[in-house]
Amino acid sequence: MPDSTTRVVSVQRLNQGPGDRSLAEWWADECKNETPESKIIEEAANLLRTSDTPVAFPSETVYGLGADATRSSAVQGIYKAKQRPSDNPLIVHVDSVDMLDRLLNPTLGSPRSCATPRISIPPIYQPLIDRFWPGPLTIIIPNPSGSNLAPEVTSKLTTFGVRLPSSPLARLLIHVADRPIAAPSANASTKPSPTTAQHVYHDLHDRISLILDGGPSGVGLESTVVDGISNPPAILRPGGIGIEALRECAGWENVTLGYNDGNLDMKEIPRAPGMKYRHYSPKARVVLFESSSKAAGVERHVQKDLQDSAIGAHNIGIVRTRNWKQGLNLAPDEDLASTLKPVPNSLENLVSFPIPVQETGSPSSRTKTAYDYHLGTDTETIAHGLFAALRALDELDVDVIYVEGISALDGVLAAAVMNRLRKAAGTEMKV
Ligand code: TXA
Ligand code: MG
Repeated sequence: MPDSTTRVVSVQRLNQGPGDRSLAEWWADECKNETPESKIIEEAANLLRTSDTPVAFPSETVYGLGADATRSSAVQGIYKAKQRPSDNPLIVHVDSVDMLDRLLNPTLGSPRSCATPRISIPPIYQPLIDRFWPGPLTIIIPNPSGSNLAPEVTSKLTTFGVRLPSSPLARLLIHVADRPIAAPSANASTKPSPTTAQHVYHDLHDRISLILDGGPSGVGLESTVVDGISNPPAILRPGGIGIEALRECAGWENVTLGYNDGNLDMKEIPRAPGMKYRHYSPKARVVLFESSSKAAGVERHVQKDLQDSAIGAHNIGIVRTRNWKQGLNLAPDEDLASTLKPVPNSLENLVSFPIPVQETGSPSSRTKTAYDYHLGTDTETIAHGLFAALRALDELDVDVIYVEGISALDGVLAAAVMNRLRKAAGTEMKV
């Protein structure tokens, strides 16, 4: 069993991609030049082929925890490292549509009778593949009979989810491993997904031996998961690619929402099994305020929590987006300016300030600490930094995190941000 000898190795240079070269040509050049990155990709690919301990790697959405999708013992290693419930299936990652084609036709290349029909990707996905692959879109496909996928990948479903990542680094790793790679997000189960190698290290360092560091993930939220083999087609998990863009594709005009988003009236159980679990949750309670919440109401709510010793809010975190002002109004403006302090070894722009509080039933006042973080105002920046912000506040041992939501109607990425925040907040949503 690996221990804290877990290595985090930078392969960031490979983010620049192959340019005009194919993956094979790119890899041949890296090997010819004996680059440090080629050595580490070779090592990671070998581990993927032979070891039962998964390897963490960067992708454009979030970091993944990868294993050879065709070997049961390797895939079991993912569930073990993450402590993930076994009824939550994994996404398979391929380096090309060709690799998916081979997965769908396991007997290809071996002697075949002419009667064996070739299985193709369901045609409904072709417009999506043309437009969104490589990229943050996962499609659900029937698992063929005689499939090479380990049964643990699909958790007993008759389908599997697959995506072709746009991260060149991820594609190169899959190409060199020459295997479809099953990879969930590389966080411990229930925690916010990791968007840096350090997040992965924090959650899994005693459980895996190698983390490839490609720098922060660009998108910051997981892929959109779609099911085109049901009628009508459905979005099972919102992500970087949204309903408007999907509806522009032939056959997807009537795509519906197949996930429960808290404020949607959905009685069914979610169709992506993972969506039923507590998820994206820091240790701290998360209280999510809708974008329309008035500042005065938010301040009253926070003050009440701080004064109520039963709630036990000692240190609090505030995550602001578009309208809240720094520090809310928890300290008078003139005091705030002089007491704001940067927080060392944490996110830039994360500041702390003291709040004197008179707890109910307690004779003396005590000082509590608030941490204030401005996530940003535009949706891309908010999506990109969200999980890192929740993780940074957890590191500071806050008891509660108050989050200023954004309007889920502001486009797809905004809907995905609010979906993750609603999951993190559970029932604690304020309007
Ligand atoms: O961006 C991403 O998708 C990242 C990166 C690493 O690629 N991966 C990721 O995987 O988020 P994970 O395991 O954290 O989420 C997979 C989601 C779960 O909600 C799971 O239930 C759903 O996809 N899923 C996988 N296979 C499925 C299937 N056959 N039918 C329905 N849902 C499926
Ligand atoms: Mg996940």
